[in-house]
Amino acid sequence: MATTQPAVRTGEELQELAKRHLWLHFARMGSYKDADMPIIVRGEGCHVWDEKGNKYFDGLSALFCVNIGHGRADVAQAGADQAKELGFFTNWTYAHPPSIELAARIASLAPGDLNRVFFTSGGSEAVESALKLSRQYHKLTGNPNKTKVIAREIAYHGTTLGALSATGIPNLREPFEPLTPGGCHVPNTNLYRLPEHMDPMDLAEAVAHRIEFEGPDTVGAVIMEPVQNAGGCFTPPEGYFQRIREICDHYNVLMISDEVICSWGRLGEYFGAEKYNYQPDMITTAKGITSAYAPMGAVIASDRIAEPFLEGNASFLHGLTFGGHPMAAAIALANLDVFEDENILDNVRKNEPVLRAALEGLMDIPIVGDVRGAGYFMAVELVRDQKTKETFNDEECEDLLRGFLSPELYRRGLICRADDRGDPVIQLSPPLIAGPDEFAEIVGILRPLLEEASARMKLIGS
Ligand SMILES: Cc1ncc(COP(=O)(O)O)c(C=O)c1O
Repeated sequence: MATTQPAVRTGEELQELAKRHLWLHFARMGSYKDADMPIIVRGEGCHVWDEKGNKYFDGLSALFCVNIGHGRADVAQAGADQAKELGFFTNWTYAHPPSIELAARIASLAPGDLNRVFFTSGGSEAVESALKLSRQYHKLTGNPNKTKVIAREIAYHGTTLGALSATGIPNLREPFEPLTPGGCHVPNTNLYRLPEHMDPMDLAEAVAHRIEFEGPDTVGAVIMEPVQNAGGCFTPPEGYFQRIREICDHYNVLMISDEVICSWGRLGEYFGAEKYNYQPDMITTAKGITSAYAPMGAVIASDRIAEPFLEGNASFLHGLTFGGHPMAAAIALANLDVFEDENILDNVRKNEPVLRAALEGLMDIPIVGDVRGAGYFMAVELVRDQKTKETFNDEECEDLLRGFLSPELYRRGLICRADDRGDPVIQLSPPLIAGPDEFAEIVGILRPLLEEASARMKLIGS
């Protein structure tokens, strides 16, 4: 007889099976030979619990995605109800009610004429699809050589080979070279380390220079996050995206806003492009679209981009079995109901200054160099010297982040990211239901830890 009950395992059994069979993503598997893997078994609101019963504050919304918080039985139920009605049908030449409803709902929320939604199973697939859409759009409109994409240094746009060619993190690219050709990179908006002689708007002009350098006939798209995650929540200077839009229009280059993280309330708006008041040709999204209760992503394209695909024999020659999965779409609709019914965006807008102030309150600790970000998406940059902004070398970063901060944050009950894909930062991206009490919980763990980190690195004043 079929049973719906999973085997009940002890924590030790789970550890043993995980170590033997499970391949973690982006993880040094060797480090689990002598240490336990973090195994998360349950979530409720802003907290999760591991297999030993330890409680953690989920300061990263798992991976920038559980936007409405954990344990929402109503959202899970919407998925179960849909699975009973129509467990699966594909959007590969067919439609079904949940993906139709969701596409219409997304179009009603997305800025301007972004009215056409192509669903995927996640963020890398959304970026991959947008890059392919850009190439085919240009071929259909008489510009077959517009294949290159301009992205920013240190930006993360996903791991599939096309998306990886837009990703600007050398360490992630190097093992897989040669990548899909055409990825070109320009400086990001790291305003904390902007060279003294530079005007912040030079950062936008760098895109025009690069298009000229590559040859305008060969460049198809620019892809950028509203706030760049990797490197530590780089916000744009005033007017930056408006200038990028002008440059894209001038050179007939498509502007892709990669909002895999920055949509669905992360910055206090449904879309990051609204926060910074620009109109992209495409938005790529994923993660918070379902608050991660099911895997889903999407490309949201403007009427102009969709138009050549809607005539005669044309079709976008690209598809994914699970794009628009009915259960994921039903969950996304239920997630958006929660956003509306519980004023999730208002909560972020109201409390963003409180989160910022709580983190800025750490700036008396010698190792804290900068606090930056927007909405519920913040980074604390760690430095050797606050005045000179001197950073740590590779060996020190290894010791500070992987030898001390990451394990200690987890041990003390705070899930967040200690990252050195750029200069070392601690990143926070709490569920959008969090408020002042939760921020106090975060800072209650961060403050003593950063004080200890300052002492460990022998910083003056610690
Ligand atoms: C901006 C951005 N683009 C793309 C991706 C890739 O998304 P996924 O991990 O769902 O494939 C991510 C993942 O974090 C991201 O942050």
